Amino acid sequence: MSKLTNREIHLVSRPDGLPVPANFAVVENKVNTEGEGVLIRNLYMSVDPAMRPALSNGQTRLDAVMGGGAIGRVMESTVEAYPVGSYVLHRCGFREYYRSDGKDLSLIKPQGESLTTHLHILGGTGLTAYGGLLVTGELKDGENVFVSAAAGAVGSVACQIAKIKNCRVAGSCGSDDKVAYLKNELGVDYAFNYKTSSISKELHIGLPDGIDVYFENVGGAHLDAACGQMRPLGRIPVCGMISAYNNKGARSEGVTTLSNMIYNRVTMKGFVVYEFNHMKDQFLKDMRTWMSEGRMKYSETIMEGIVEAPNALIGLLQGQNTGKMLVRLSDDV
Ligand SMILES: NC(=O)c1ccc[n+]([C@@H]2O[C@H](COP(=O)([O-])OP(=O)(O)OC[C@H]3O[C@@H](n4cnc5c(N)ncnc54)[C@H](OP(=O)(O)O)[C@@H]3O)[C@@H](O)[C@H]2O)c1
Repeated sequence: MSKLTNREIHLVSRPDGLPVPANFAVVENKVNTEGEGVLIRNLYMSVDPAMRPALSNGQTRLDAVMGGGAIGRVMESTVEAYPVGSYVLHRCGFREYYRSDGKDLSLIKPQGESLTTHLHILGGTGLTAYGGLLVTGELKDGENVFVSAAAGAVGSVACQIAKIKNCRVAGSCGSDDKVAYLKNELGVDYAFNYKTSSISKELHIGLPDGIDVYFENVGGAHLDAACGQMRPLGRIPVCGMISAYNNKGARSEGVTTLSNMIYNRVTMKGFVVYEFNHMKDQFLKDMRTWMSEGRMKYSETIMEGIVEAPNALIGLLQGQNTGKMLVRLSDDV
């Protein structure tokens, strides 16, 4: 039986604050090319903020291969559902090759779109924005919407869905280039750089009548500013709190404006993407329609090669991505 050399990323020490490259190691091992099951050559892997809390809370084990969403091509297979040459989605990224018994795979059949879209706009990222805004956020036509981390993977989809629903949309992000992207590419009504301005003042300018829906990706100072400007019966779907993820216990900064929730009867509700799994068919139909109409665009930041995977995660936490952060794991794509 011949063997392939596989490289994979292990967590070797738990980060204190922002992860550093020394927290990770590239480890080589051998993978059998023959035998029962499905041998997969990973092509792209997803890099997600939720990977950071997992490095500290024990979910990611030390000295073991890390996990995360990935797309690969089937090289060898004894499982009929996954023939050689087919593309599969699974949760075993951070490695070049993966051997599966087939139970943790799902088949991807692109309909003309790029393979990578299944790791973001047509995958979990898109569904997060779709369900979070329309179901948890109960978005209505014409409302005033604020999205934080607006130029990121989830945020950019949330902004565009709100525009499609005829809303006025303000977005925050961490660079002037991202401000330009939000305004010029995605058609967001008002965008600002939270690193160089007052979030509260910018929201007063961008959404002078207040906020009906705050799509929360960041927490801390963003939540403090937005909560104080919520309109009566406003909703805050809590998608994530990335500003807290490098802190011990992912503790967020204090929020001082919660009393505004009382008389304005504001609802704040957390959600997790799997709550919307039952909506996948409708989600894909809507997204494909919007993409074909040119109303749903995306951007990707792609790092090259498995050795760059730790830097991609560190870079994501520092805002180096516009749209989805990915790592290409094979030259053969
Ligand atoms: N609930 C769910 O099921 C679910 C599913 C997926 C994702 N999420 C959450 O959704 C959010 C966005 O995820 P994503 O995958 O789309 O990532 P992303 O927005 O593409 O990337 C993260 C972005 O967060 C921004 N950021 C980093 N540190 C920040 C800070 N201290 N303050 C403000 N902004 C900061 C950076 O952009 P800037 O340049 O703008 O700073 C960075 O590009 C995250 O909070 C994530 O945990 C939740």
